[in-house]
Amino acid sequence: MHWLTNPQVRRQAHALKWSTYPEDQLPLWVADLDCEAPPIVKTLLNHAADHGVFGYGLEPPAFRDAWVTHIHRAYQWNIDPDWIVPIAGVVPAMTYGLECFPDRQRVLSPSPAYPYFAGVPERARRALERYPLEHTDAGLVPDLLALAGLLDQSHKPSVLLLCNPHNPGGAVYSKQCLNDIITLAVETETPLISDEIWADLRLDPVSHYPLGQLVPETHPSLTIMAATKTFNIAGFSAAIAIVPHAPTRERLLATQIAMPHITPLAFAMTAGCLQEGWDWHRMLLDALRINRARVQMWANAHPNIRVTTGQATFLAWIEAPLTEADWITGLTDAKVRLSMGRPFGDATAVRLNYGTSPTILDEALGRLSTVLTNRDCP
Ligand SMILES: Cc1ncc(COP(=O)(O)O)c(C=O)c1O
Repeated sequence: MHWLTNPQVRRQAHALKWSTYPEDQLPLWVADLDCEAPPIVKTLLNHAADHGVFGYGLEPPAFRDAWVTHIHRAYQWNIDPDWIVPIAGVVPAMTYGLECFPDRQRVLSPSPAYPYFAGVPERARRALERYPLEHTDAGLVPDLLALAGLLDQSHKPSVLLLCNPHNPGGAVYSKQCLNDIITLAVETETPLISDEIWADLRLDPVSHYPLGQLVPETHPSLTIMAATKTFNIAGFSAAIAIVPHAPTRERLLATQIAMPHITPLAFAMTAGCLQEGWDWHRMLLDALRINRARVQMWANAHPNIRVTTGQATFLAWIEAPLTEADWITGLTDAKVRLSMGRPFGDATAVRLNYGTSPTILDEALGRLSTVLTNRDCP
């Protein structure tokens, strides 16, 4: 994997990660990778530049075909192509997914989790209730007893959100865990929305079970996937919701009026990467495993903190006996930027993105050690 080591390359492209903070700060926050996308992306861009026409587009057949083939190969799930609803982004798909269930005032969402797991229900003016996760060898997984307790309040019709694999905890939920959740959801007639954007960034040899593969077709569920994280093409927004339950799918399709659509380039990028990006992807996973090992070695040298890297993602969730104010001053002084934990649901934690060059990662980890030792947390 060829990591970019010159930050100017990303700053010149106005990358969110590298252009938000002053140049002396090392930014290991927003979840994209400091590397070039698979070669097919440049090929497709060159092809687009050659024809030079950028009008309205139509979903190319290759997009749906590529997803159906990938989902069969990767997860042995045979989906009907008609179950797919393309949407311009995973977070938008969660937003529109909630719109399918207007009578459900209450949304159960994991904590900690990627900030939009709170932001989407709040923006939809639903009553947000967080369900706790627990530490296991896999990473952070739903606390099933707590979830059962929340769902049992059957006078409160809810929608249940899942993040699998989990950001920031990296857990890939086991089949047993998912089946237990599904049983609870079916018993309480709770629709399920699962964000699976990280499914193809598994670093350990564990199986991922797409939610919809395990849910009865008669129960409303949305399984949301994208190739944008997998192939580092977040700048080409494209996602799919897989919705086997026909009435829910019809409601979801009805939300897609007067909404931003997936651009022709974004359709092509996702299809192209799903078809031809896998050699690159193998190299990426190897490089991420090396970086994860660096983070774990660093964590071992800091016994007073808990660092969770889990089985998937390129994220580490760092819990330490530090206040949010300690983190903010410490990180600012040390010139390293991580994602602050509060929007994830835990103000005393931070999230580190290790999808960067080993040189930058080592420098950032060194700066983080200074933050910890300066605050009596060696
Ligand atoms: C769990 C999760 N969902 C969604 C997204 C963003 O998806 P999109 O850019 O397609 O809205 C991210 C990005 O980091 C993520 O981690």
